[in-house]
Amino acid sequence: MIDSAARGHFVGGHWIRPTGDRTERRSPSDDQDLIGAFGVGGRSELDDAVTAATAARPRWAAASPQVRADLLEAVAAEIAGNADDLARLLSREEGKTLAEARAEVIRASQLFRFFSGEALRASGDLQDSIRPGVEVGTLLEPVGVVGIIAPWNFPIAIPAWKSAPALAFGNTVVLKPAQLVAGTATALAAIIERVGFPPGVFNLVTGPGSALGSALVAHPGIDAISFTGSQAVGRGVAQAAASRLARVQLEMGGKNPLVVLDDADLDIAVSAALDGAFAQTGQRCTASSRLVVQDGIHDRFVEMLSRAMSELRVGHSLDPATTVGPVASESQLATDEHYLALAREHPGVEVIGGHRVRRETSGNFLAPALLIGGDADDRFNREEIFGPIAGVIRVGDYDEALHVANDTEFGLVAGICTTSLARAADFRRRADAGMVMVNLPTAGVDPHVSFGGRKGSSYGPREQGTSARHFFTQQKTSYVRS
Ligand code: UN1
Repeated sequence: MIDSAARGHFVGGHWIRPTGDRTERRSPSDDQDLIGAFGVGGRSELDDAVTAATAARPRWAAASPQVRADLLEAVAAEIAGNADDLARLLSREEGKTLAEARAEVIRASQLFRFFSGEALRASGDLQDSIRPGVEVGTLLEPVGVVGIIAPWNFPIAIPAWKSAPALAFGNTVVLKPAQLVAGTATALAAIIERVGFPPGVFNLVTGPGSALGSALVAHPGIDAISFTGSQAVGRGVAQAAASRLARVQLEMGGKNPLVVLDDADLDIAVSAALDGAFAQTGQRCTASSRLVVQDGIHDRFVEMLSRAMSELRVGHSLDPATTVGPVASESQLATDEHYLALAREHPGVEVIGGHRVRRETSGNFLAPALLIGGDADDRFNREEIFGPIAGVIRVGDYDEALHVANDTEFGLVAGICTTSLARAADFRRRADAGMVMVNLPTAGVDPHVSFGGRKGSSYGPREQGTSARHFFTQQKTSYVRS
């Protein structure tokens, strides 16, 4: 069983009861469902966590990779073994459907398992120097204390995909989850405690990003910062990290195009758009939020997609009939409604869906929306909304589709639906994005390959897969004359 009641901060192997303020979290499906009251950590909790992580660092860095691998494997097994309870907590707390929450929990388990193996993978090399009798070696060493700032939309998967590689490669961790989903992060910390990590190797401090996140970024004891969140906050993180020469990795937003060409298989295109735009209530940085559709297929695509949308069931995240859970918070709902209003006021734009839905419980229920007839330059087609809202942009031909797809400050994912191998191959080369999807939704990625974008979407080394080691290790080159 997971104790979802607030245990407090997890520092140096102990749970520290919050002393000052707490923030209450209620389910976005039902405000009668109290998830917990979470500590608002400040400077002193952060200092304690960094002190604990610093003290734990030398032994953890020197631990046998087998020890690290075994502990990560144990976390993977515990997460999988408690998947039902974790998924339920996550679904209540964040609002994604139980099925989506379960898939996320399994992904978190897979990430710990993958990085358990990575802990053991040989790293570094040895070669001859250009000087006779001298050998040159490259060693990969841990960076030190890693500060992790995680967003609310993947309450366990993102803490897992940042923490697992950090720990695998011998770093110690201070995790600051989004305060909205502190309960799930607390459950993860409890698992890490239970499997027997040495005290101080993993620490959790909860609190709002505005104060605690900024303090973590500025903390001189934090050697590297891995952040996922908005672009506006990310810029500030990069500047603060650069000013004290700390290593930084940022994953920020997206406004990901899904191009649908005239020759697309319509069923595949509609299901890719439906999943990409509206699964997890559209709250993914990888969401297919711009549907760039060629003239000849446009009307049929819109008709079929609207029909499929009318079959979605918006409701309580724990109701098995629900296919789209509530918007995660009232402030996110206000943002969604702001952009819906912009689109409704725009001459020539038709909005399908986007109305509030009433259910038995109070909840932020919003019908998925399509914004049809807007230009590529309209704000709702350029700015990240982070809700169940997608713009449909009509284009004449492939060249225009490619231009519109790339004409964005973001560059996380670009997708295309086509039956032409030539077009798919061309798009794969010319899409200005870190990830390309063909006949698939833009969202939904594998744990064992690199994740990251270009332009305003990402900054610093890639996450996940074999790339993760670049951020979480530092090289040492050694010259040895024997
Ligand atoms: C996915 O599409 O499966 O915050 C993952 C996000 C991304 C993760 C998306 N960093 O939405």
